[in-house]
Amino acid sequence: MTEDAQAFYGRWARLYDLLATRTPGIVTLRRQAALACRLEPGDTVVEMGCGTGANLPYLREQVGPEGTVIGLDFTRGVLERARVATAEYDNVHVVRADATQPPIPDEDGVDAILATFVVGMLAEPARAVDQWCDALAPGGHLVLVNAGRSERWYAPPVNALFRGVVALSTPPTTRLRYDRDLSGQLDRKVRDAHDRLRARASAVAHETHAGGVVRLTGGRIE
Ligand SMILES: C[S@@+](CC[C@H](N)C(=O)[O-])C[C@H]1O[C@@H](n2cnc3c(N)ncnc32)[C@H](O)[C@@H]1O
Repeated sequence: MTEDAQAFYGRWARLYDLLATRTPGIVTLRRQAALACRLEPGDTVVEMGCGTGANLPYLREQVGPEGTVIGLDFTRGVLERARVATAEYDNVHVVRADATQPPIPDEDGVDAILATFVVGMLAEPARAVDQWCDALAPGGHLVLVNAGRSERWYAPPVNALFRGVVALSTPPTTRLRYDRDLSGQLDRKVRDAHDRLRARASAVAHETHAGGVVRLTGGRIE
């Protein structure tokens, strides 16, 4: 999955960037995600799987010029776009690393971690959530944003659209893509990650967007 995902996102970086920045409603969602990190000016925030950097300007708005924003991703192609998009800020850094082994020293716990549309790509999403919680300073916030099947009464057409988007946006060479229950697998991973965050957090905020397809969970970790 790891190499397939890097090849896929590297190849489609430009198209992904358009979707990540121009999809109707996406700017509001990214601002909400940055706000849910509950940052103060001067704080340090890490985004896991930052892709082309679509969240980084909103995180930078929250920490101000004296704070630090670190975007981390393992795909070179998307990181190049993220670097260009944030070149005007000297306190926004883009790093190539594996989000499941984040290079954050224990003693340097960060104030917040954000991961949008990432945990569904990980082999062990709940384990990654544990690692991210452990990388926070006491009282820090972890925020997850993901798409999953809607549970609303008008869900069938929304979920049909969701299944199509999942099939198109899953790297074509992965076994996952040929699984008959692709969106079900993604759903389970997302649920595992959000449930683990709820279990670890002392205070939780939860919102849904886009007809119940997009879920935002934020938690304070002591
Ligand atoms: C669907 S994109 C989301 C990008 C961005 N967070 C956004 O909201 O636009 C998923 C990103 O996660 C990255 N990714 C997936 N698994 C990763 C891992 N283990 N370590 C680092 N990056 C990872 C991919 O390279 C890709 O850029």
